[in-house]
Amino acid sequence: MRSNLLMALAALGLAATPALAADSIENLARTCNNCHGINGVSVGPTMPSIGGLSEPYLKNMMLQWKSGERYSATMGRLIKGYSDEQIGALATHFSKLPWTPVVQKADAKVLAQGKAATDRCETCHGDTGGKPDDTDTPKLNGQWARYMELELMKYRNDAVKMPHKKMRGNSKKLDEADVAAAAQYYAAQPK
Ligand code: HEC
Ligand code: HEC
Repeated sequence: MRSNLLMALAALGLAATPALAADSIENLARTCNNCHGINGVSVGPTMPSIGGLSEPYLKNMMLQWKSGERYSATMGRLIKGYSDEQIGALATHFSKLPWTPVVQKADAKVLAQGKAATDRCETCHGDTGGKPDDTDTPKLNGQWARYMELELMKYRNDAVKMPHKKMRGNSKKLDEADVAAAAQYYAAQPK
């Protein structure tokens, strides 16, 4: 998988090979755009937007994947090819871009269900997911619904390595039937 990916990226002239290490951060970030979209605004649905998330959050995620502390389908293998310095530079780069919510429509009933289910989430994420209370907490407004649903399912599953204990605990307090609705509620919020 990794070698296929690197070959595909190499064909596009985008591989994060050592030859590129000295290159500008824009070149490094171009590799990310293949999956995360131009300026880190993803075209979805299982790929998250990353442009405009906070620097400490972005850095923490990437370092946790690199160390193997955090489960991932893709990022763990990919990020091992980057030095901590490059990871820091990528986090700075993406954090400086504007957060661009991709507002996704949903049924009014689902939105009401999602809003009710996310009462307990407000203290940390803000009432629409757009006002995180600290820099360790990601924005959720206009993030991709299916992506967030899958993340919530990972936090809820003890067999999946996800180090954030509070997010684990909170995700488990959702009724299973509310997980997708909560994700769709945040995905529908413009700010
Ligand atoms: C081959 C596709 C692909 C490429 C290239 C890629 N990513 Fe990812 N990224 C993913 C996937 C898939 C996820 C979801 C986590 C997982 O399962 O790996 C993700 C998740 C993330 C997240 C977590 C976002 C959140 O809010 O949870 C960050 C941060 C991230 N990637 C940064 C980067 C950076 C920086 C690069 C460039 C060095 C990059 N990614 C390149 C596929 C990719
Ligand atoms: C105590 C504060 C807190 C509460 C309460 C909380 N969260 Fe979180 N949430 C966080 C933090 C911090 C993260 C990043 C965790 C990590 O590093 O894995 C996060 C991550 C997430 C993510 C992953 C986003 C991404 O881009 O990968 C989703 C989705 C989410 N929270 C939804 C919820 C929902 C739904 C609730 C309520 C049921 C909730 N959160 C309650 C702090 C909180």
